[in-house]
Amino acid sequence: MRVLSGMQPSGAAHLGNYLGALRPWVDSQSPDAFYCVVDLHALTLDMSPADLRRQTVELLATMIASGLDPELCTVFVQSQVPYHAQLSWLLECVATYGELTRMVAFKEKSQRSQGYRVGLLTYPVLMAADILLYETECVPVGDDQRQHLELSRNIAERFNARYGETFRVPKGIQPVVAARVMDLQDPQRKMSKSLASPLGTIYLTDEPADLERKVKRAVTDTDGSVRLDWEKKPGVSNLLEIFAGLSGERPDAVAQRYSSYGDLKRDLAALLIETLSPIRRRYYELMTDPEELNLIATEGARRACAVAGDVYDRAARAVGIA
Ligand code: TYM
Repeated sequence: MRVLSGMQPSGAAHLGNYLGALRPWVDSQSPDAFYCVVDLHALTLDMSPADLRRQTVELLATMIASGLDPELCTVFVQSQVPYHAQLSWLLECVATYGELTRMVAFKEKSQRSQGYRVGLLTYPVLMAADILLYETECVPVGDDQRQHLELSRNIAERFNARYGETFRVPKGIQPVVAARVMDLQDPQRKMSKSLASPLGTIYLTDEPADLERKVKRAVTDTDGSVRLDWEKKPGVSNLLEIFAGLSGERPDAVAQRYSSYGDLKRDLAALLIETLSPIRRRYYELMTDPEELNLIATEGARRACAVAGDVYDRAARAVGIA
């Protein structure tokens, strides 16, 4: 099955990125799977060129450290495949202003910055291009990308209806557990790269002592009973969901084993240390060899171009520019 997904190099990857995306990516890797660092998307944010360049390499290393095997699947950097930006323009002429302004992510982000970039509005069209270029059937993403996925489907269907059958219409899939990991300090807010709270965000490269400290200080409540109740007990529910995401259980099954927050937190910290330590070590190892990372990206871009080029040509012919 053809799979594609992407992640922005907008900051260090966190536990939400891991449970919502990276781990499902690793589970679905195959020669038919494409995973990209979407550096063009990060240009919608205020970031220095040096930071963008560094974070792109760091994210590439994180993806591989998390278990993606570049021999088995294609790992690449979006800007190294020029068809993404090219197809995005064709799709911008199919998408409507109204549907883009209805995107929740756009509404939130545009409120935060005065004189926001037009790219913030057209961002989901570039995302549709990422997906449609690979004849993607399945897009593994966290819960926050659902609306963008729906837009990609609508754009594909509209393009096909207007210009003839050109794109495969993709489906998004979310993990059953931990599709939306919340901030440990503010469990009403999702864990996020751009609005990171230092104690509330777990990074994949956190040292064991950091993991212990962050879990210990995680916000809970005064009720004292360990059970899943997102409305009344968002902090505890988030910890249970994270635990279950890491151990492969159901959150309520985890809850049944614990009668105190202290025990739950202690075991969750241990599980995080066990899961993330090998990733952290591999990450630092990979970062000592930038040349190797460069080679992986070059080979990935070569493979990606071979697929994306054909689809782009088909779309260009369909609209009448080739
Ligand atoms: P981004 O870079 O914000 O996040 C990358 C992936 O991580 C998931 N994620 C989460 N999952 C669970 N809990 C969280 N707190 C959490 N935070 C992030 C996201 O859902 C995502 O799967 N627009 C996309 C990037 C993108 C893309 C694409 C994705 C560009 N082109 C094509 C799929 C296909 C984004 O900003 O993800």
